[in-house]
Amino acid sequence: MESLKKLFGKTSKGEEVYAYTITNGKISAEILDFGATLRSIYVPDKNGNVADVTIGYEDFAPYETSSAYEGKTVGRYANRICGGKFEINGKEYNVEKNENNITCLHGGGEFSFNFWKVENFSDSSITLSFESEDGSFGFPGKMEARVTFTVTERNGVEIRYSAVADKDTIINFTNHSYFNLAGKGDILGHLLKINANAFTPTDEINIPTGEIKSVAATPMDFREFKVIGKEINSDYAQLVNAGGYDHNFCLIGEKGQIRAVAEAYDPESERRMTVYTDLPGIQLYTGNFLERCSGKAGRENYKNCGFCLETQYYPDTPNQKNFPQCTFKAGEEYNSVTIFEFSAD
Ligand code: GLA
Repeated sequence: MESLKKLFGKTSKGEEVYAYTITNGKISAEILDFGATLRSIYVPDKNGNVADVTIGYEDFAPYETSSAYEGKTVGRYANRICGGKFEINGKEYNVEKNENNITCLHGGGEFSFNFWKVENFSDSSITLSFESEDGSFGFPGKMEARVTFTVTERNGVEIRYSAVADKDTIINFTNHSYFNLAGKGDILGHLLKINANAFTPTDEINIPTGEIKSVAATPMDFREFKVIGKEINSDYAQLVNAGGYDHNFCLIGEKGQIRAVAEAYDPESERRMTVYTDLPGIQLYTGNFLERCSGKAGRENYKNCGFCLETQYYPDTPNQKNFPQCTFKAGEEYNSVTIFEFSAD
């Protein structure tokens, strides 16, 4: 596994897209400068057989348009904002309503569907930066953002975000990788554990109702390892409405303190992934809207072929005053870290 930079493809306008590989000699990750996209993570199983444990595409073209955000860095506000509007300091802001003309989803896609600048690239690490203008996609403040991907000695892909704006603004970054620890098939047989006693139920258009609801005695209970497919098709209204899991879990532990928040395990390959973050929430999304199409290396992508664990502030925070807030002052730095760490039993 060598560290390298290679031409990956071209945008529809003819701009060159580069792929950068970083590695610790045991696992490796591939990052695209377009969308600061984590395209692949190669991880050995217990017998040393290496598989790519993320979902994506062989060629560049779908990365330019896919609304599934495979592997993307998402900013400046991940997840949904109700009605595409919110207030800061008594002023109303109207942002891009890119979801059915009703909701702002993933900041309108600005950070995910543009080129990032590569600032640093070494064997095991890459830093990319992105500048968003004041008023871009309706958000207040010119923002400078940075993301660093590092393959750690402990076989983690560590993602560090930092951002600062010149006006008070909301900031919520995530990574939208879809994982499949088997490197094939669907993820319904994977085991999952999420360290959350509660989740934020959503209405029919996936906006939090404001309630913080206990997971006890519901299919949302992942406090002990559970097979993802066990209750996914139950008649629990939250799951029926979202077509599976597409919910924010309220993580145990102090915001700002890095801790293990979730763990996934594939019994067949015995690959395991532990997620660490300092953020208060995580979105479990089971790829409910994925349409069948060809993916990477002859694989097919389809509903439930991967799951996302999007570390985040809870959705719609600026309109939900009882949620931990992510409004940052002008000049105040947003910093957060998420690590996807791999092992095989
Ligand atoms: C997030 C959302 C999903 C979906 C995907 C992108 O996970 O919660 O509803 O929009 O992004 O397809």
